[in-house]
Amino acid sequence: MTELTGTNPGQPPTVDLGPHADALTQNPHPLYAQLLEKGPIHRAIQPDGTETWLILGHPEAKEALAHPSALSSDPANATPQWRARYLGDPDAQELPQGKSMINSDSPDQLRLRKPVTRTFTPRRIDALRATVEEHVAQLLEGLPRDEAFDVIDDFAAPLALGMICTILGIPDLDRDRIRGWADRIGFPTSAEDVTAARHELIPYTDQLIADQRNHPVEGLLATLIQAADDGQMTPTELRATVFLLLNAGHETVISLLASAVFCLLSHPDQFAALRDSPTLVDQVIDETLRFQPSVISTAPRFVREDLTLGSTTIPGDGGLVTVVVASANRDPRQFTNPHTFDITRQPGELMSFGHGAHFCLGWLLARLEAGIALPALLKTFPNLAPASELSALKWRSGPIVRCLAHLPCTPGARPSGASPSNR
Ligand code: HEM
Repeated sequence: MTELTGTNPGQPPTVDLGPHADALTQNPHPLYAQLLEKGPIHRAIQPDGTETWLILGHPEAKEALAHPSALSSDPANATPQWRARYLGDPDAQELPQGKSMINSDSPDQLRLRKPVTRTFTPRRIDALRATVEEHVAQLLEGLPRDEAFDVIDDFAAPLALGMICTILGIPDLDRDRIRGWADRIGFPTSAEDVTAARHELIPYTDQLIADQRNHPVEGLLATLIQAADDGQMTPTELRATVFLLLNAGHETVISLLASAVFCLLSHPDQFAALRDSPTLVDQVIDETLRFQPSVISTAPRFVREDLTLGSTTIPGDGGLVTVVVASANRDPRQFTNPHTFDITRQPGELMSFGHGAHFCLGWLLARLEAGIALPALLKTFPNLAPASELSALKWRSGPIVRCLAHLPCTPGARPSGASPSNR
């Protein structure tokens, strides 16, 4: 690992992640474990050249996310250099789609979160159980019984997209286009393409809102339009909120389901344990969220007040902070044998859905979908096996989400030598 020392006296040395871009996508865990062993906080140059503080330890991540006054989510508090690179303009105050809860601080964040919260209460999410079961049954019905299929394209993606469309109350006819835009924004190939995808999704979102105004359908979008009409959010904030939900509401769930199947296929002993005790499914989901989390790092934070975490003080100069959930979830101070996938593990405090003010709004929905889809898939295909070497599968990674690109499986027997290492 390339370390550049002597940057600023009293600060940890800077780690150059540039040479590790592929490793960070394919399997970031060994690299993060190596860094965490040296210390819970590092300065780093990311593969795209941006400098950041990396928070890798569990207590440090939790502490950092509990201080939104010091760590802002609002790009208005970022450095002009960051804004020039990510917003295309050093003076830009917000993302092109506008301000939503995830890129704002309270009181705006609370104001923008409130109208969405009501849709995600435990009672409202539990009421979606039958709808999820219906979607899952239909998708399973359509899967081939005697040839390979892709757990992602043929099962997880249509389920997650179908559910977010149902919740919003919008047609799911466009789900392939929505996924296409979300892919280009979530797993960028270039800064220009992210901008282009954003500028395609923005008018699409505006059109959804206009259509809903002309032909109202019961659902979250109607609730949000009402909130805007009542003066709780501006039209741009309304659009940014729908934009956020279209993105946050499915890539993460696709990743969770695919990673759960991947972890079970690559740990046959754990797969066998689940077959023996199907009630372990909730623990499989917890352990997948810990071991192969969908979200690698939280959304960017910008330091607006000095923040002391342990022996490190991060200066309040607008610098970028990246809270690495994936590393916190494998901190040996928090989890015993953290690099072992163990579905019988005692539940610990996962960072997978974040912490503090921005804690994930959709966590119950994600768990409901995975908790119904995973056992149903395995019941339909008890001998589900990888259709190619698991260790050769390609992952995709963006600033926030990491997910397998495809997970081809057969309903038949496992090919020999299909087990990758445990890390
Ligand atoms: C396995 C699935 C999921 C994971 C791992 C996940 C993870 C996260 C994390 C880590 C955050 C915090 C980001 C931060 O602090 O910067 C977050 C926020 C958020 N998530 Fe999720 N998420 C999942 C599914 C969903 C779903 C299904 C939805 C919506 C339908 C959703 C909606 C949101 C929203 C709206 C926020 C922003 C909350 C705020 O800023 O106040 N998430 N999620």
